[in-house]
Amino acid sequence: MEKSIEALLKEGRTFKPSASFRKDAWVRDEKPYRDAAKNRLKYWESWAKQLHWTQKWSKVLDWRPPFAKWFVGGKLNASFNCVDRHVEGGRRNKAALIWEGEPGDERTLTYADLQRAVCRFANGLKALGVQKGDRVTLYMPMIPELAVAMLACARIGAIHSVVFGGFSAEALRERINDSQSKIVVTADGSYRRGQIVPLKKNTDEALVGVSSVEKVVVFRRTGQAVDMGGPRDVWWDDVVKDQPCVCEPEPMDSEDMLYLLYTSGSTGKPKGVKHTTGGTLVGCFATTKWIFDLKDEDVYWCTADIGWVTGHSYIVYGPLANGATVLMYEGAPDWPDKDRFWTLIEKYRVSIFYTAPTAIRAFMKWGEAWPRKHDLSSLRLLGSVGEPINPEAWTWYRQVIGGGRCPVVDTWWQTETGHIMISPLPGVTTLKPGSATRPFPGIEAEVVDEQGKPAQSGYLVIKSPWPGMLRGIYGDDERYEQVYWSKYPGWYLTGDGCKRDKNGYFWLLGRVDDVLKVSGHRLSTMEIESALVDHKAVAEAAVIGKHHEIKENAVVAFVSLRHGYAGDDRLSKELREHVVKKIGSLARPDDVIFTVELPKTRSGKIMRRLLRDIAEGRTLGDTTTLADAAVVRSLKEKYEGQEA
Ligand code: PRX
Repeated sequence: MEKSIEALLKEGRTFKPSASFRKDAWVRDEKPYRDAAKNRLKYWESWAKQLHWTQKWSKVLDWRPPFAKWFVGGKLNASFNCVDRHVEGGRRNKAALIWEGEPGDERTLTYADLQRAVCRFANGLKALGVQKGDRVTLYMPMIPELAVAMLACARIGAIHSVVFGGFSAEALRERINDSQSKIVVTADGSYRRGQIVPLKKNTDEALVGVSSVEKVVVFRRTGQAVDMGGPRDVWWDDVVKDQPCVCEPEPMDSEDMLYLLYTSGSTGKPKGVKHTTGGTLVGCFATTKWIFDLKDEDVYWCTADIGWVTGHSYIVYGPLANGATVLMYEGAPDWPDKDRFWTLIEKYRVSIFYTAPTAIRAFMKWGEAWPRKHDLSSLRLLGSVGEPINPEAWTWYRQVIGGGRCPVVDTWWQTETGHIMISPLPGVTTLKPGSATRPFPGIEAEVVDEQGKPAQSGYLVIKSPWPGMLRGIYGDDERYEQVYWSKYPGWYLTGDGCKRDKNGYFWLLGRVDDVLKVSGHRLSTMEIESALVDHKAVAEAAVIGKHHEIKENAVVAFVSLRHGYAGDDRLSKELREHVVKKIGSLARPDDVIFTVELPKTRSGKIMRRLLRDIAEGRTLGDTTTLADAAVVRSLKEKYEGQEA
């Protein structure tokens, strides 16, 4: 096996769609690319027409850079399109969500079940005083009620802000405060590797000093004792108890906000990315259907957590807008054993599987024996998202998980883009391991140099608006313009580096800014630095990502201390836990390096490039602009000493 993978890489092999896959694929030829290039707006409009609108738009796009409006004047409801449309259209008793909890409990909700659950919770939210435009924070486990709560918000025009359950109380507080949420929906706890994450307790801590929140709705998941004594606390069951199963969907303007999702940028403060109703739904609907070649018979599984954008677009809105059967799993891939995912695929006959390179690399490390124990023959398509996938992992995924017969779609996109932007279409595109291949029809991507000229290697930009694009940063239009639109006015700056090959294929190279990907999670170096300097012992901190075999990046923190503190193991541990408290365990530094001073330029800028060189053991690059070269030399010696 090892040998054959090496051979494949050396050959630089390409994979054409098989005749059998192509035969039944939604897209079999280049026509959509041609149609979209000829008339992009007409092309997107044809997608919009496939959804249910209560009022048609008068104009497809209104573009006043950097502000776009799509399907202007149109009215629709996302929850109606994801649920009722299918109940009325013949999928009433089709499974919408098949769910398995980490302890092994199972539930299936048909589209009719989902409709009842959504309507009852929507009515419950209304009874709690939630109105159109209000923000509702969801801090929940991966259980059907999370999808139900999102769709219930969408049904009544409330804006959901999902906060990943792995974030700490303080990170949750920051997001609640920024969005000024009226309601928090949570659970007593969630299961993770057999342990309970105390979501309600975290919520209580988060709400200290928060005034906007009127009610905390608690779903009983784990059943452990929780404090429900607060004046705002209500059980989910009591909220829905007497509510009717019917709730008229609110007709929403295409440009009304559907959700807010916080993500990390290159400053210490997370950004509330705004997404609107019409554009999100159209973009997610289209990309899910064509990229995953989604059919009615499929069992579709995206392993992301709904706390991230992938779960929003490709567990909830995209697949449900298509009337799909979606598998949802609550827990960890290695619980109780390292074949949990393969057990699930075999058991539910999953046909489409979408996961992240970091997971694939972990599966590789765990060994082929785990997947080999299971019948994975139901799979017909594999997807990857979140980071660049190395050709070795891609090839392993295709061979070992996909049995050599499934196309692998490497999909590039971001929280900001709302839906996939660069990806193969599996019935058409010749695949190259490690490349996201080409832009989706209707997406105009380009790689440019500093001056904005097309280049073989440079910055990835998007040159024209697309339906699911972010509409701004909540409460901060200035930051929106500055971060994404100021380098090349009129073009969207992705923050990713990219190469094109001789066939024009896109090869993503990772971030070029201070955003880090750690196990597929997006973190800002500045956010971790702020968490560190919040500790009384810390004078200054610089955080960088160091290449990691599985996680893509390991977090390395260089820290200088205030007078009177000693950089010992105890403090190192304390600082790492301080970051966990401020952000969550996902941001815990792998290494903390104490230093008397950080290497800076003469103008006082921290030279991260040098820190990266030190952490990755490279010969140091250009140090001529450095204020004090001795700092770097001593750091390098120290780091090497520590590594040894
Ligand atoms: O660097 C790119 C990387 O993930 C970033 C976006 O992260 P986030 O907003 O958390 O969304 C992740 C899920 C869509 C991008 O700027 N990224 C995402 N997908 C890929 C990728 N890098 C390379 N290849 C991909 N397929």
